[in-house]
Amino acid sequence: MQTKCPSLDVDIAFDIDESQIHEAYKSVIYRIVQESLNNAVKYSQATTAKVTLSDHNDAIHLSITDNGIGFDQTTIQEKLGLGLMSMSERAESVRGKMEIEAAIDQGVEIRASFPMVQ
Ligand SMILES: Nc1ncnc2c1ncn2[C@@H]1O[C@H](COP(=O)(O)OP(=O)(O)OP(=O)(O)O)[C@@H](O)[C@H]1O
Ligand SMILES: [Mg+2]
Repeated sequence: MQTKCPSLDVDIAFDIDESQIHEAYKSVIYRIVQESLNNAVKYSQATTAKVTLSDHNDAIHLSITDNGIGFDQTTIQEKLGLGLMSMSERAESVRGKMEIEAAIDQGVEIRASFPMVQ
């Protein structure tokens, strides 16, 4: 049996120096990006995904978007699986916040923000 791996172009735009990112955030950011891209490959039928990381208003902002089939935002409570829930819990474990924005045929955006630690 042949397994097909869909192709997804990932555009990465990091507008932050690694030294600005608190050590405790790094694995959280990594896991959120990993699971978001896994989900994009598994469900979205997207051709492109974009990952951005930047800092403004004393916080670090992470966003992962895809241009795939998305889903109806009002069904989010029924949709939530272990992947999305654990991403959110990981963000909260370091006082961050995570949001999911989706719309049918307009892809999914996962946003997370983390307070800047001085
Ligand atoms: N990028 C996406 N595009 C379209 N649908 C998505 C996307 N990401 C998630 N979903 C939908 O949300 C559901 C929940 O995702 P979640 O990662 O929480 O669980 P899962 O991927 O089904 O299982 P797990 O991550 O535990 O292996 C998915 O089953 C899928 O229906
Ligand atoms: Mg998943």
